Amino acid sequence: MASILLHEHSLPPRSLLRRIEAMETLFQRQGELSVAARGRVFFEPLLLESEGVVMSTQVVLPRTMQIGEHSSHALPDVLATLGCTRPLIITDGMMVKLGYAERLQSVLSEHNLSADVFSDTLPEPTVASIQAGVSTARDGNYDSIIALGGGSPIDSAKAIAILARHGGEMRDYKFPRQVDEQGIPIIAIPTTAGTGSEVTRFTIITDETTDEKMLCAGLGFMPVAALIDYDLTLSLPARTTADTGIDAMTHAIEAYVSKKANPYSDSQALSAMRLIGPNLRRVYHSGEDKSAREAMMLGSTLAGIAFSNASVALVHGMSRPIGAHFHVPHGLSNAMLLPEVTAFSLPSAPERYAECARALGMAEVTDSDEVANHNLIEALTLLNQELNVPTPEQYGIKRQHFFDVLPQMAEQALASGSPGNNPRVPSADEIVEIYRRLW
Ligand SMILES: [Fe+2]
Repeated sequence: MASILLHEHSLPPRSLLRRIEAMETLFQRQGELSVAARGRVFFEPLLLESEGVVMSTQVVLPRTMQIGEHSSHALPDVLATLGCTRPLIITDGMMVKLGYAERLQSVLSEHNLSADVFSDTLPEPTVASIQAGVSTARDGNYDSIIALGGGSPIDSAKAIAILARHGGEMRDYKFPRQVDEQGIPIIAIPTTAGTGSEVTRFTIITDETTDEKMLCAGLGFMPVAALIDYDLTLSLPARTTADTGIDAMTHAIEAYVSKKANPYSDSQALSAMRLIGPNLRRVYHSGEDKSAREAMMLGSTLAGIAFSNASVALVHGMSRPIGAHFHVPHGLSNAMLLPEVTAFSLPSAPERYAECARALGMAEVTDSDEVANHNLIEALTLLNQELNVPTPEQYGIKRQHFFDVLPQMAEQALASGSPGNNPRVPSADEIVEIYRRLW
C-alpha cells in the first residue's frame, strides 16, 4: 500500500500543488491509478503562506476505503475491523429488486453474519420519508448501518444514523450547524458513479413543508468506511448514468473553483476531471464498458473527496431549489445549470476554469486561458445535447410556476451557503437572472 506523508511549511500553494501532482504521476507510472485510490494519503497539518496569512487544511476521509472490482465483497472483513456484528442494510426498492441487497446478505451469511434490510428510502429523501427508517434503526439495537445505493439511500442512511442515536428533528441539524456528534457508524456502498456521498460529510434532506432542500454538514455524516465497487454500476440505465456522471463532474469543477479550494482538494478535483472527462460519454453510450465504468467510479469518489473538503458552489446552490420545487433529479438540474453558471462565474476565475477545461479534455494543454474558457462553455453545452439533458420546459415544468417561484428559489439558494463559495458571488437578482436564462 502506498503511503505519502506530506508536511510542508511556507510553500506557496502552486508549488505544493505541483509537488503533489508530481508524486501522483510517479505512482501512476508504477501502476497505481491514484495515490488516493490505492493507498492512504496522510495529510499532516499543512501550513501555507498566502498573502501573509498562515492557512491550514483539515482533510476528513472515511477511516477505510476499499476500491475496485468486487470490493463490496470485503464487507465482512470491514465489519470485523470495526468490531460490528449487527448491521442494518438501508437501501431502496430497486436495490432489492436487482438482488443487490440479497447479494450482500449472502456475502455476510458466509461469515455467519446476518443483516436486516430497510428498503423504504425514497429518491430525493424528505423528512417524512426517513421517519420509518429512524424508528427501525432506533428500536433494532443495530451497531452499524450499511448504506447501499445511489445518493438518496446513502443520504437517507446518514440522516437516520444521526437521528436514531441523538433524536430531535432534521431541521435541528441544518447548516450552518456543524454536526460533529457520531451517529450509528455507516459503511457506504455506492451503486452510482455520481454523488460521492460515500466520502462526504454532507447529507441533503428536503423539508416537504417548505420545499427546502436542507444541507446538513459535519463529521457525523462521514461514513466510517466506503466500499467502492464499480461492478455495481454496470447495469445502470443510460439516463441515471448520465445524470449521476454530470453530478460527479460538477463536484470536481465546483471544488476546483470554490473559494474554499486548497492544494489537497485541487489535486483530487483535477484527478477526478481527468478520469471523468474522457469517460462520461463512453459510459452513457456503452454502459457495459468496464474500464470506463471503473474510471467514472474512481472519478466520482475523488470528486466527492474534493468537494467534501472544499465545498460546492453556485451550481449546487441553485440546483437544490429546482429539485425541491420541481422534483428534477439532482444530477439533471446540475446539468441544466452548468453551462450558464459557468459562463456567469468564469470572468472571476478564468485561470481556474481554463485548468478545468484542460483536465476534462475540453481544451488542449497548449491552449491559452482565453481559448480554453471559450471551449469549456461550448463543450459543456454540446455535452448536454449529447447526453439528452432537457431544458426545464422540456422536462415538463410549467412556465408560470417556474417564474413565480424564482425569487423564493434565489433566497433558498443563497441560504444554503453554497453560492458564497463561488468565485463570483451573485446577488439574489443575478441568481434569478441565471434561472431565467435556463428557459
Ligand atoms: Fe451533487
